[in-house]
Amino acid sequence: MDYSQILYGGDYNPEQWLKYPDILEKDVLYMKKAHINTVTLGVFSWAILEPEEGNFCFSWLEDIMDNLYAHGIAVILATPSGARPKWLAELYPEVLRVDESRNRNLFGGRHNHCYTSPVYREKVRRINKELALRLGKHPAVILWHISNEYGGECHCPLCQQAFRVWLQKKYASIEVLNESWCTTFWSHIYQSFAQIESPSSRGESMIHGLNLDWKRFVTDQTVDFVRREIKAIKSEEPNKPITINMMYDYEGLNYHKFADIIDIVSWDSYPTWHKDNDYETAMQTGMQHDIMRCIKHKPFLLMESCPSATNWQGVSKLKKPNMLAAASFQALAHGSNSVLYFQIRQSRGSCEKFHGAVIDHYGGEDTRVFREVSDLGKQLGNIKELLGTVVHADVAVVYDWENRWAMKDAMGPRNKGLFYKEVVEKSYSAFRKQGLNVDVIDMEQDISAYKIVAAPMVYLFRCGFEERVRKFVEQGGIFVLTYWSGIVDENDRCFLGGTPHGLLDVMGMRSMEIDALYDGESNFLVPAENTIYEIASKYRCQHLCDLIEVTTARALMIYQDDFYHGYPAVTVNRFGGGQAYYIGADVEQKCYDDLYRHLLKEADLEPLIEGTISEGIEITSRKSQNAEYIIIQNYNDTAVQMNLSENRYHVLRGASIHNIPSLETLILKRKQ
Ligand code: GAL
Repeated sequence: MDYSQILYGGDYNPEQWLKYPDILEKDVLYMKKAHINTVTLGVFSWAILEPEEGNFCFSWLEDIMDNLYAHGIAVILATPSGARPKWLAELYPEVLRVDESRNRNLFGGRHNHCYTSPVYREKVRRINKELALRLGKHPAVILWHISNEYGGECHCPLCQQAFRVWLQKKYASIEVLNESWCTTFWSHIYQSFAQIESPSSRGESMIHGLNLDWKRFVTDQTVDFVRREIKAIKSEEPNKPITINMMYDYEGLNYHKFADIIDIVSWDSYPTWHKDNDYETAMQTGMQHDIMRCIKHKPFLLMESCPSATNWQGVSKLKKPNMLAAASFQALAHGSNSVLYFQIRQSRGSCEKFHGAVIDHYGGEDTRVFREVSDLGKQLGNIKELLGTVVHADVAVVYDWENRWAMKDAMGPRNKGLFYKEVVEKSYSAFRKQGLNVDVIDMEQDISAYKIVAAPMVYLFRCGFEERVRKFVEQGGIFVLTYWSGIVDENDRCFLGGTPHGLLDVMGMRSMEIDALYDGESNFLVPAENTIYEIASKYRCQHLCDLIEVTTARALMIYQDDFYHGYPAVTVNRFGGGQAYYIGADVEQKCYDDLYRHLLKEADLEPLIEGTISEGIEITSRKSQNAEYIIIQNYNDTAVQMNLSENRYHVLRGASIHNIPSLETLILKRKQ
């Protein structure tokens, strides 16, 4: 891949414009004007690449690629499996997806195919191989984009059979499966693997072990499908890297399981800017960027973003001036090596005709969006030195897909909402507000090198997480756990003998009961007597309150109200060389902010910049062996004064080191 420039451009669908050669010609000229250096081609081109079975037509695409290459524009070449042609569905109905109530879909839409179907796998293999053979070695191609936003599940007979084989491999005997899934409950015992069906609201949906394994199977089956797509490509063109484009907080697939089969993680980011508070939106988006970066712990690509407004959000709002640049710089700040859009030219018809694009239906370059896109493209050329740097974090927050699946299924204590993501975001934001880079990892990743690890609501413990936590704290780490943690095992069976499982001595406490609060109901946390920290007098909590009994831990905060007033609510325990904190209730952000400020001191961690960090300011850094870059963004409506020392930094981008206007980005290089 060409690492000499930040990739700038996006999805381009010339197949929609083949009858308009003048438009195709103009597009390339516009791209040049906008400093676009990369486009993604072929994502939804199957019906034009193979208009009838076995009849491949690649010359139109090759012509487009030749022309792009001649203009110095690189190509990310997609495999077309995200949407299949009509003839394929007609000839082989098994390729269409079956929903959970066992109805087969009609042809239509996209992502409407079975990942198990041998026919679909074969048809995809064939076209991928042809594509790689014909165009894979084209000098314009820098990266393979496999399919589009994998997702969804199929419940057809082929998938049922594959699921049974998967289960047999996992459990070996039906007795072990019954034991693992607790099937004695409601007399749901299986006598053979052949009897097992995927979860369905018309049938079995109450066996939590089954539900969890089904989700794991769906991920594994999709990974297997992707692996085959990749194999077909690599058989003809083994040298070019591979990515898949992932989605915002997508629950359906455990993205970490794709880490080993792709070379680069990429994702599609469509935040709802200007909705509530842009700083909060930036925090949420920042966390997603960090999740993506941590899948491979390497720079990633922003594969899609919208240059103006999407058309599928409840309200599709325009980006105010500068928002496009701010959102794009934020991606780079968190470790992206690209800014790519969906899309270069707006479709004329169908369901995305109103989705924003670099070139809209008007078709000219004298538009606000085109000007902003061009201006940004030019600026990216000036910060190429960010390439080759990485984001390093001393602190991590655990956010785990399988845990999320299990928690959604839990049934109790609060079916109206447990707010897992929001609670993870509280720890994440608290770290960021102190001016730290943050890794967002899952439960399988190594935690030993971090100084602080926060694990909010880790309801399900898997892969020996508790053992790794024990070692981490023993060896001096600072660990934060919250309520609703260490409750079920990998099979979603409750641990016996007290929660948080395996950590009672590390945490120095035990959760005895958990109280669920009605919407709008709250309690308060107040400082315990002789608490060691200067904490605000009172923090509101809601949703869930753990009733804790301490053994060796010390209470930092206690409950103010209800029959458990005076019970410990936030505790700390010294264990080995480290400290283990427990936050017992869904407490307001301010409590996290205040507590984490102390954790930083305790861990001897310095913020990325000196001085106070004002509200609404986001700070990140990227570094290499020889250089460190600090990226400061202002998500407030007004300018913010910064108290930075000119002796310490060179300014790479930004007018002044002392004043950052609203939605502006300052990029500094630390002086050695
Ligand atoms: C993405 C998808 C694109 C386009 C875009 C619109 O999820 O990958 O093909 O549909 O959304 O925002």
